[in-house]
Amino acid sequence: MQYHLYIIYIIYIESSVDEWRRQHARLGPIALGSDLTQPHIAMLNYLLMDTLQNQEYLRRQYEDSRNLGARIDLHTRFSTEEHPWFHWVFDRFEIPEKARVIELGCGTGLLWRENLSRIPHGWSITLTDASPGMVREAEEGLRRTALGFTFAEVNAVSIPYDNDTFDSVIANHMLYHVPDLDRTLSEIRRVLKPGGRLYATTVGLNHMAELREVPRDLGIRTPDGSVQTFTQFNLDNSASDLGHWFAEVELERRNGALMVTEAAPLVDYVLSGTRLSDEETARLRASFDSEIQLRGAFRISTETGIFKAIRGS
Ligand SMILES: C[S@@+](CC[C@H](N)C(=O)[O-])C[C@H]1O[C@@H](n2cnc3c(N)ncnc32)[C@H](O)[C@@H]1O
Repeated sequence: MQYHLYIIYIIYIESSVDEWRRQHARLGPIALGSDLTQPHIAMLNYLLMDTLQNQEYLRRQYEDSRNLGARIDLHTRFSTEEHPWFHWVFDRFEIPEKARVIELGCGTGLLWRENLSRIPHGWSITLTDASPGMVREAEEGLRRTALGFTFAEVNAVSIPYDNDTFDSVIANHMLYHVPDLDRTLSEIRRVLKPGGRLYATTVGLNHMAELREVPRDLGIRTPDGSVQTFTQFNLDNSASDLGHWFAEVELERRNGALMVTEAAPLVDYVLSGTRLSDEETARLRASFDSEIQLRGAFRISTETGIFKAIRGS
């Protein structure tokens, strides 16, 4: 046991943790663990878990919509796409006119606020999130509409509804946060009716890579979320996870770019997920400023997409 822990410690200090996780997350301890017992493997997986699934980090990160808002703001203001993200996502739904729909990790309910006029009156929509603050904000934004929304605090790893309840489950940009992806997917399958569909958006490994490179090149450590790579449930590694639970899995990608002409929203984006000292923040701001002055804008490429997965009978 000590031998295995020692090996992992060496890997940690000798290489970029981010890069190492990107290549080995979760396979590492299992591959090393031929003589490890399950509790040891669980402990090692916990130690190696991305910040993006760390429950204490997530509790603080999503206490309210401030951090998420800073990130959405950057996309909304500087995307080069003509078709807004939440319209593009809604366009992909093939949901009957009369249907029960649940969203997991709904955040502030922006998907629905941005598509209000397009929602069929026959949909009964349950908006859920693990964060009570997010559920409150989603409810505040939508309760005065004439549509049939209900709201509930739900952790996606354990969905408190009966088998075969929903025609569609929506899980946008949230399955990379769940602490047990396999269990969450089994729960989603369980609450879907046979033939029901999961729609799940996520990002690719190179999503916004340019933004990660700046602090890295400046030697600024960003141990927390906003500038991390997404090792769990990204566009490249999720089809097989979904394939264990669903009969048909399809992915539609959407690549794009942001052309950001102000340093402040870039700094806000980074600070939305990680703490920096004043000195580090000032260096980061100066670096964004000089790139914008030189080239007219700071360009960031985006890699997003939506999985559609259909439950078999
Ligand atoms: C990146 S935000 C996405 C919000 C929204 N779906 C969107 O696309 O804008 C992730 C959301 O997932 C929620 N979340 C994180 N872990 C969760 C879990 N285990 N179960 C349910 N919601 C979770 C967070 O509270 C947060 O609101």
